[in-house]
Order: sequence, then C-alpha cells, then structure tokens
Amino acid sequence: MRIATFAFAVLLISAARLPGQTSSARNPPDVGARGQAVQFNRDIRPLLSDKCYTCHGPDKARRLTKLRFDIEADAKQDLGGRFAIIPGDPANSEMIRRITAANPARLMPPVASGRTLTSREIELIQRWIEQGAKWQNHWSFIAPERAALPVIKNRTWPRNEIDFFVLDRLEREGYGPAVEAERTTLIRRVSLDLTGLPPTPAEVDAFVSDRSPKAYEKVVDRLLAFREKIGPFDRLLYCGHDWADAAAMRWASSAARTR
Ligand code: HEC
Repeated sequence: MRIATFAFAVLLISAARLPGQTSSARNPPDVGARGQAVQFNRDIRPLLSDKCYTCHGPDKARRLTKLRFDIEADAKQDLGGRFAIIPGDPANSEMIRRITAANPARLMPPVASGRTLTSREIELIQRWIEQGAKWQNHWSFIAPERAALPVIKNRTWPRNEIDFFVLDRLEREGYGPAVEAERTTLIRRVSLDLTGLPPTPAEVDAFVSDRSPKAYEKVVDRLLAFREKIGPFDRLLYCGHDWADAAAMRWASSAARTR
C-alpha cells in the first residue's frame, strides 16, 4: 500500500515536471536578444545535435560527407575553398548559405529528412557565427563562473542576485513580477518545496503573526533543519499519504499556474 502510494506520488511529480520541460525545449529562451552573447553549449550545441548530427555527427555510418559539427576542428575545416563556419562572417559561411538556401536541393537540413529550422533558430546560428563562433567544451568540463548581474529596468524589485536573473528574463518576455502572495500561501509553498509536507496550522499562525523582517528566512532555516534531520529517503516513507496528497495538490496548483 505504501509502495503504491509512493509510486503514485512519483508519477504525479514527474507528470508535473514534464510540461515545463517540453515547453522550454520547444521555446528556447530569447537568447542573444539585447546584446546578450549566444552561448555554444546552451544555444547552439542542442540545436546542431537535434537537427544536424544525424548526418554530420559522431555516427560514421550515417555521415555522407566529411563535414561534422560535433568536433570544432572538423566543423571549421577547409572543405576545398569553402568553409562551413567562418567566425565573424556568417554571409560567407556555407552553413548559413545552406540553412537559408532558396533552392530546396541545397537546403539544410535536407527537405527529405523531415527536419527544419525555425527562423529563430537560423537567426541564433547566424548571430553565433557573427559573434565569433566560439566553441565550448562539454559543460561538465567547464568550471562554473560567477555571471555578471543582468541590467534590469525595475531595480527596486530584486532582493538578491537570483532575482536579477529572474526579472531579466521576465522583462525580456514583456512580463512583470506577480504581486507577492499572502503569507499563508508563501509558507505553504516553501514547506512543500523544501520538505514535501504542508505546514501545520501552528506553523502558519506563527509565520503570519511574525512581523520581523527575517520572518521568511526563519521559516526557511527551520524547514532546512527539518530536512537535514529527516534525510531524503526516510522523508518519503515518513510522509506516506500526506505526501501523496500534498503532491497531488501541488501538481494541481502548479498546473493551474502555467495556464
Ligand atoms: C539527413 C541528413 C542531413 C542532415 C540532417 C543535415 N545534413 Fe547537411 N548535408 C548532408 C549531405 C548528404 C550533404 C552533402 C551533399 C550536399 O552538399 O548537399 C550535406 C552538406 C552540408 C553542407 C555543405 C558541405 C560542403 O562541403 O559544402 C553544409 C554546410 C551542411 N550540410 C550543413 C548542415 C546543417 C547546418 C545541418 C543542420 C541544421 C545539416 N546540414 C543537416 C546531409 C544532411
């Protein structure tokens, strides 16, 4: 019974995550806009992998040309006076000529492959070449670096650095931040996020009546300490039915929010 409940909850959670993942794959962030640099790993590699690697990738048997886009030196090699990629010069790069070719016999990906590039994807590749066609190692080999804070319009809204990044994306998409939720909602959300459990009525009351500026921070600290104590696997068993119910409600409310 317990296992069934647990499996059901896991299903719900993965169902809840799926729509977000597919929609972000379908609608890549509006990168490169407003002077932002295109990043190979984030913006270009997934595109090439999706649309070009079948024939220009690691699989030798399926490669009908020596041009491959999974290795920088090969992607930028001399193809006999032509180059697929000339950093800084998209107009003379074969890659751009072929993905924008008016002649269907020249167009890449080939029409028969059933793959196409959207105008946004073409623009992204163009901008990447324009900006120097910089390659990056696989992300797992790159040491993390602190990113510069984005320049945002509404400088009074952020409370910490992460808010700058959230607001930057909202502003680029033409949205503003939502008004802050009621305290009862805030504690419910953060409790579910950090422990998988809803808050007790006493915890809600304590937070609602705590007027100190650190009220929220205190709740987060308490929840993190609780989490530490319970540990991840035990937490799931410990929560049993409550957890499945909470997950179901959480799913319903986040599904409603994405509509
Ligand atoms: C279904 C297989 C297939 C896919 C997918 C594909 N290509 Fe090609 N590509 C070929 C073949 C075959 C050739 C060689 C014949 C030709 O030039 O049309 C070629 C040639 C090219 C050339 C010219 C190479 C030269 O020597 O001048 C470029 C540039 C190119 N592809 C870019 C791309 C890009 C960029 C993508 C993805 C957006 C892509 N291709 C996707 C099969 C494919």
